[in-house]
Amino acid sequence: MSKIPTMRLDRLLNNLGYGSRREIHIMARNGRLKLDGGILQDVEQRVPLSAEFAARLTFNGEPLDPLPGVVVMMNKPLGVTCSHKDKGPLVFHLLPDRWQFREPKISAVGRLDKDTSGLLLMTDDGAFLHQVISPKRHIPKRYLATLDRPLRGNEAEVFASGTLMLDGEDKPLLPARLEVLASHEAAITITEGRYHQVRRMFAAMGNHVVALHRAAMGGLALPDDLAPGEIQVLSDAERFIVMRGEHDVLGGDQA
Ligand code: URA
Repeated sequence: MSKIPTMRLDRLLNNLGYGSRREIHIMARNGRLKLDGGILQDVEQRVPLSAEFAARLTFNGEPLDPLPGVVVMMNKPLGVTCSHKDKGPLVFHLLPDRWQFREPKISAVGRLDKDTSGLLLMTDDGAFLHQVISPKRHIPKRYLATLDRPLRGNEAEVFASGTLMLDGEDKPLLPARLEVLASHEAAITITEGRYHQVRRMFAAMGNHVVALHRAAMGGLALPDDLAPGEIQVLSDAERFIVMRGEHDVLGGDQA
């Protein structure tokens, strides 16, 4: 059985963004930290890094933030970008204030364009991030696209062919699935993450994407009741569901 790692409580709270180690000592002395409802002042003790233990703690009367190793799903609104290097409003600014100070830092799992909305995963778990974005995994991503011009009718065939070459690239795209929803609307499922891929695929068909929304990643769909800008912490089962995408939908043996 694997042993649960431990960490000094003041360091853990500092890593979760609750304050400097000094501030945490003062706040604990002032009775703001509780274990099982009783005041806990000794923040130099080592504590297990387990969700079960964390669930017994409160800070300022609130449940403790998720421990490092968290994965959240956001309904990304339009107008925000996904990289810490970008200028302007970032998806990270929509997380609770304290989370800006977390260590390890929260990163986006892949990117959505500034003008794309929908399901965005964010995590501080490097292994999870790399598994999801690994080109070897082929995790399907489903988008809803609204188009400037009516669909021509051959898009599904061309996208499924595995021969479509994007401008400036030397390797054809893997097969993708297109479902026509209306004359100017389609759902498209891709298993790669090339730069502006969906917009460029429709551009290759002489069309233009006017709105793009990611509806699902792997087997995980964006819930209808998650408003733009809101987040939801993923359970272990949901993390697994991301990996368990419907690999066969594209007719390959990519699983
Ligand atoms: N394809 C795009 O063109 N943009 C996105 O944000 C995601 C996929």
